[in-house]
Amino acid sequence: MMNSTVADLSAVNISALSVVRGGRPVIDDVSVRVPRGSITGLLGPSGCGKTTLMRAIIGTQRIADGSVWVFGDDAGAKSLRGRIGYVTQSPSVYGDLTVTENIRYFADLSAPGSKAARNAAVSHAIEVVGLTAEAGRRAVSLSGGQRGRVSLACALVGEPELLVLDEPTVGLDPVLRVELWRTFADLAAAGTTLLVSSHVMDEAEHCANLILLREGRLVANLSPQQLLDQTGETNMEAAFLALIEGGAAR
Ligand SMILES: Nc1ncnc2c1ncn2[C@@H]1O[C@H](COP(=O)(O)OP(=O)(O)O)[C@@H](O)[C@H]1O
Ligand SMILES: [Mg+2]
Repeated sequence: MMNSTVADLSAVNISALSVVRGGRPVIDDVSVRVPRGSITGLLGPSGCGKTTLMRAIIGTQRIADGSVWVFGDDAGAKSLRGRIGYVTQSPSVYGDLTVTENIRYFADLSAPGSKAARNAAVSHAIEVVGLTAEAGRRAVSLSGGQRGRVSLACALVGEPELLVLDEPTVGLDPVLRVELWRTFADLAAAGTTLLVSSHVMDEAEHCANLILLREGRLVANLSPQQLLDQTGETNMEAAFLALIEGGAAR
């Protein structure tokens, strides 16, 4: 357990985290916080350590040094089960089950309460991801973007307080991408904490806070506006490059 005042303010608190994979440091002395009830973007180029950092938060990554707390408990603690929803980078769904059946499967595992309450939770999750019209279709017949949203609904149905989404917008067309970010904003407005990774810097504009990583190191942990102000740039990609080139830190 950590200091309770800090735990109250942050959903995730990472201190001096280092992770070694394949004999190499892939997260190097990273300290960041994820505030509650808003969207935090975890951004950086491919291979910079986004997935590894998420695995550390979920509690599935062996760490070499430092600490990771989620809601004041050690990452991976039993008490955190059910409070965190995680959607991996290439999520899979059961192709031979319908949208509803896929989500009900997770609801039966994770959502508490009566059968009626679980059914209501399933319908609600389907509505949140905009798949109500497809609810009876088998997942195999859906588009890639729709299948991604089924995975999101599977993570949502247990009503987690923290949603960790690894590159959820990759491969989506611009319209779907905007819709998905709108869904994330609605979830945050309802009090959910979201940590969303992307290697596309433009996605920073949808986030309240940013964690910028490069080669396993923290480049900056600030808001999009602070990033623009600090660099004098008008777009996120240029601002990120300016930070790196300027060697400007935290
Ligand atoms: N299972 C693994 N074994 C060894 N190295 C790995 C493994 N998974 C990832 N890595 C390395 O760790 C670094 C960070 O990877 P990752 O966290 O997947 O980055 P990102 O999600 O930002 O693309 C990369 O250099 C990658 O090659
Ligand atoms: Mg990744």
